[in-house]
Amino acid sequence: MDNKDTYGNAAAKRIIENLNVATLLFDDQLHLEYINPAGEMLFAISARQANGLTSDELFGHPNALSDALVKAHDESHALTEREIELTLPDHRTVTVDCTVTPITEPQKGQMLLLELQQIDRQLRILREENLIAQHDATHAVVRGLAHEINNPLGGLRGAAQLLEKELDDEALKEYTSVIIGEADRLRNLLSRLLGPYARPQLRRTNIHEILERVRVLVLAETPQGINIKRDYDPSIPEPWIEADQMIQAVLNIVRNAIQALGENGVITLRTRAKRQFTIGARRHKLVLCLEIIDNGPGIPPDIVEKIFYPMISGRAEGTGLGLSIAQTLVHQHGGLIECESRPGCTTFTLLLPLDRNND
Ligand SMILES: Nc1ncnc2c1ncn2[C@@H]1O[C@H](COP(=O)(O)OP(=O)(O)O)[C@@H](O)[C@H]1O
Ligand SMILES: [Mg+2]
Repeated sequence: MDNKDTYGNAAAKRIIENLNVATLLFDDQLHLEYINPAGEMLFAISARQANGLTSDELFGHPNALSDALVKAHDESHALTEREIELTLPDHRTVTVDCTVTPITEPQKGQMLLLELQQIDRQLRILREENLIAQHDATHAVVRGLAHEINNPLGGLRGAAQLLEKELDDEALKEYTSVIIGEADRLRNLLSRLLGPYARPQLRRTNIHEILERVRVLVLAETPQGINIKRDYDPSIPEPWIEADQMIQAVLNIVRNAIQALGENGVITLRTRAKRQFTIGARRHKLVLCLEIIDNGPGIPPDIVEKIFYPMISGRAEGTGLGLSIAQTLVHQHGGLIECESRPGCTTFTLLLPLDRNND
């Protein structure tokens, strides 16, 4: 059926076509009559392919949406259901809120209007906003604290040096050298805590060159060998980044994976471009999505929510700075690192805007 003829005036059509809510219209046999572009996006199907399909064919079988459609049809009553999980025919799962409204069309009898709001995307945005806020807050605290410690530490070290010069007794000089040595160690830690705060010098850089550099580096430091699979999309445009900072960020993530992996460990580096993708609440035309996946035991549950905080470590010899620094570096590029982990599959996703000036 031609959408244009049926949905009358051009303005109404434009509105429906531009709605963010997936909007679908079914006839009373539950065959699809109309789907708007938001619906096409959600189900990754074109209106041409979708029209005429039954709700089961479209949403996978069984699915809670068909039940909602039947119920609204039988009871001639609008209904809303929340947090419906769908496993689509292409095996993706999406979570939606749905509203079904029966409407009576003069020549067609009862039709069913289905509105779907994808909420997992909103949940993701919320989670990312939290991640950004959390990062900003800890970063501010840590920097403030580090600065406060840095100044008296300088005084302490200077005084110990002066004292050392005055001392004749070698045995006593040992004490001053302990003070100086420990002060240096603390200062070192502080400068790592303060992190890489130089603004990145952005250049168009091939992301796959960065990944290859990381790969060569970690292969060199892993004498027992490590299986690193590459799944690159060569058509990705070059992002504006500072190569050294990005290498450091990826390296920190990959090294953690190697430390977590056992004998048959596999790390996969995957790059994809995503259109109309949000980072935090910000929508970008094009986003680079770099996934670093390992099949290790997963992140210990007691720290999984906190791993981007500085000094959170699950390893006895760890400093807990690797991921915090990686997050800062990527953040300075307008991007974000997310993490999902379960035993056998840990994914760090590095998102970077590919449109400069965030336009
Ligand atoms: N791929 C991974 N698999 C399992 N655990 C991980 C992984 N990546 C990070 N972790 C956990 O997160 C912690 C924090 O990592 P990081 O910030 O780099 O600090 P560090 O490596 O010094 O401990 C690690 O100690 C580890 O427990
Ligand atoms: Mg680390």
